Amino acid sequence: MDLDHEYVLQNYARYPVVLARGKGCHVYDLEGRRYLDFITGIGVNALGHAHPRILKVLREQAGLMIHSSNLYYHPYQGALAQRLARMSGLSRTFFANTGSEAMEGALKMAKAHGRAIHPEKYEIVSLDNSFHGRTMGALSVTGQAKYRQDFEPLLPGVKFVAPNDEAALEAAVNQRTAAIVMEMIQGEGGICPLTPAFAGKARALASEHHALLIADETQCGVGRPGTYFAYQRSSPAILPDVMVAAKPVACGLPLGFIVANDEAAAAIRPGMHGSTFGGGPLACRVALEFLDILDELLPAIQRVGGYFHVSLNELARKYAFVKEVRGFGLMLGMELTMPGKQMVLDAMAEGLLINCTHDTVLRFLPPYIATEKEVDQAVKILGKLFARV
Ligand SMILES: Cc1ncc(COP(=O)(O)O)c(C=O)c1O
Repeated sequence: MDLDHEYVLQNYARYPVVLARGKGCHVYDLEGRRYLDFITGIGVNALGHAHPRILKVLREQAGLMIHSSNLYYHPYQGALAQRLARMSGLSRTFFANTGSEAMEGALKMAKAHGRAIHPEKYEIVSLDNSFHGRTMGALSVTGQAKYRQDFEPLLPGVKFVAPNDEAALEAAVNQRTAAIVMEMIQGEGGICPLTPAFAGKARALASEHHALLIADETQCGVGRPGTYFAYQRSSPAILPDVMVAAKPVACGLPLGFIVANDEAAAAIRPGMHGSTFGGGPLACRVALEFLDILDELLPAIQRVGGYFHVSLNELARKYAFVKEVRGFGLMLGMELTMPGKQMVLDAMAEGLLINCTHDTVLRFLPPYIATEKEVDQAVKILGKLFARV
């Protein structure tokens, strides 16, 4: 901690704990204290820690080849792209390393697609309260002043509308719109799902104006909502033209991706985009193994997520300072009428890792391997803390 304070850029407000290792749903600090991990590195460690099948693949592939660059083929990138196409209902994948990098690529795709139609077709419509990453393009479409204010002016031509306000969306989208960008469940914005009607309206407006609908599934996707992607929750699915995701897909190795339909993908021709590290053999092979395991876990995500939701609601009913429980699958938030930061610290002292987003929302992103037993443990700790308030 001392070295961090002296030598590391002081951009993070870290909790005062040094994590040393993890196993299953738990992590351990340097003193050997055990914590139930219900934040999973902000939605990354979806299989918990040290999953035996992931370790096996990691060890084997690390001994063969970690990085090959995109100058050459390797056996796993094409196979992973095929898998993502089948899962998503879209066609072609670009591999990046992070959610922000994937969003940058998606915005470039939208600009190139729009520009080919008309030079003035470059506007992006995004949502208030959204979060799409910290790089300049991703930040430009992030609808929260606290992330943007020190870096303005950002990309021109970005409009923000209130989530779930269909009339405002209709007023904002026109023939100059290159893309509409949205998280089906806003994550950093406080675990706020979009209504199917609003998402459907976005789909219709994008089609009407030849704009791309971009779904940012970085936090709400890849199994977490109980479906592969959050846009598949409604029936029929509201299929975007472009989807970006990252976090859990390579179990902690950096891997982000864009999946696009044929029309959007055709906007990027050879030489227009790239990434040195994106889609390397180690990350892609781990992701393939992860997706095999995800297929086995999807029913449990729905079942345990439902159980967790009901348990949080039961707790909420007892305490007036709980405003609402929101979310789907294993992406849940509990909005309080007061700041949640102290509750997060108190939970940590009791051996439970969660965090707080949007100041007042306790955020739960448990690992997909969590069972009712771990949920009971977490809810018991929360109950103890709530009784003290
Ligand atoms: C919806 C969404 N988009 C993009 C990002 C940025 O991802 P990364 O931090 O991997 O760049 C995040 C990160 O939390 C996110 O939640």
